Amino acid sequence: MFLSFLFLFLLVSATSASRNHLGIPKSNALVTVKAFDLGSLTVVNSSQIAISPVLPGQESVEFPMFAFLVEHQATQKRIMFDLGIRTDVENFVPSLSGIFAAGIYQLRDNKDVTEVLQQAGINLTSIDTVIQSHGHFDHIGDMSKFPNSTKLVIGPGTDTSTYPTDPNAVHLESDFAGHNITELDFTHSKLVWRWTFSGMGVSIWWTHLHMSGHISALARVTPTTFVALGGDTFHHAGQTRPRPELQQNFPCPADLVEELKTSVSTDYFWSPDSHIGSFDIHSRTQPMLAISNLPGSVEQLPAIAQVSLDKIATFDADPDVLVVISHDISHRGNLPTYPASLNDWKAKNYKEKTVWNFANKSNLAFRFDVVA
Ligand SMILES: *[C@@H]1O[C@H](CO)[C@@H](O)[C@H](O)[C@H]1NC(C)=O
Ligand SMILES: *[C@@H]1O[C@H](CO)[C@@H](O)[C@H](O)[C@H]1NC(C)=O
Ligand SMILES: *[C@@H]1O[C@H](CO)[C@@H](O)[C@H](O)[C@H]1NC(C)=O
Ligand SMILES: *[C@@H]1O[C@H](CO)[C@@H](O)[C@H](O)[C@H]1NC(C)=O
Ligand SMILES: *[C@@H]1O[C@H](CO)[C@@H](O)[C@H](O)[C@H]1NC(C)=O
Ligand SMILES: [Zn+2]
Repeated sequence: MFLSFLFLFLLVSATSASRNHLGIPKSNALVTVKAFDLGSLTVVNSSQIAISPVLPGQESVEFPMFAFLVEHQATQKRIMFDLGIRTDVENFVPSLSGIFAAGIYQLRDNKDVTEVLQQAGINLTSIDTVIQSHGHFDHIGDMSKFPNSTKLVIGPGTDTSTYPTDPNAVHLESDFAGHNITELDFTHSKLVWRWTFSGMGVSIWWTHLHMSGHISALARVTPTTFVALGGDTFHHAGQTRPRPELQQNFPCPADLVEELKTSVSTDYFWSPDSHIGSFDIHSRTQPMLAISNLPGSVEQLPAIAQVSLDKIATFDADPDVLVVISHDISHRGNLPTYPASLNDWKAKNYKEKTVWNFANKSNLAFRFDVVA
């Protein structure tokens, strides 16, 4: 679940005011983005490794695993952004398979992405490139199931050591063998736009994130709208919301404002206009949840990860960017999945309709009150 972070841009055309402040370069390339929901990874009794605070009764946390098919509209060239988890977890390196055997990581409804693609009629030989947001086991799938012709793109500094040659490694040789691997290189800049797949019109923006080698992608789906594939820049929508700019552009619906007064525990959450037993969301200027900085945190460098999160929050507040991270359970059941595309998210008001779902007490993402 982790990384340094890089935005991969599939771009276009004129820069509007909002484009300028986001620093998105011009491009004429458009892509189509289709999501797959590959099931859930639940962290049992250990949600403190990813989320803070953990309220009584909220010790476990369920993470869906989304993967994305990105198709260049002009050429139909296909890439996958992330692959979810392999299904044969017993074949992970022992340190990892042991966590599954102990029941701390539990899988539900999980699917192998290569089987899902083939069932959808997508020949694996047509997947030109797999981009892995980072090297964690719940993103890298099983590359040995892709033909050797499928290329692999990884972020700068990704650890490519393999087990058992390196007994501490978490990758297997089969995670890399046979594929042309490009490790993106941002040595000369901390914040830079780059063209990597010139044919695809993909450029990349890198900032340092929560695990060495973490990258994110920004897909231009219409000349003026984008889908940001955020990987593990955060794990729960409450880690980036609310913030003042988001409250301005996507005001919390009145009935939810009312519900939040009593659904949120004021023992754990507060804001300037809150009263004991009556939480006020309007005056909350910082996200409800923080990333974890406890020992065992999924974040390699929590302080740096927080900065990257603040950066992606700018995208999250923007009316023209839909931010979709790998594990946001508030999208479960709402996010259109293959064969539907995400491209018309703005025309369909998807963001207005869903951006506050995480705070709805009937949503699976809700974790702002004690569970008796
Ligand atoms: C989680 O905690 C519950 C309640 O304490 C316990 O019954 C269960 O065995 C724990 N599960 C794991 C995997 O630690
Ligand atoms: C996939 O494409 C390859 C190469 O174009 C072809 O040889 C193979 O038969 C195709 N597989 C299926 C299941 O269509
Ligand atoms: C694919 O790569 C693997 C690992 O390098 C190799 O063993 C295998 O022969 C290759 N397959 C083909 C069809 O070239
Ligand atoms: C690997 O892919 C890159 C980018 O497409 C290409 O420039 C390079 O020649 C390839 N390397 C090999 C060994 O095929
Ligand atoms: C919470 O979500 C449910 C299910 O989608 C919906 O029926 C309800 O109106 C929502 N509540 C609020 C306060 O938005
Ligand atoms: Zn993850």
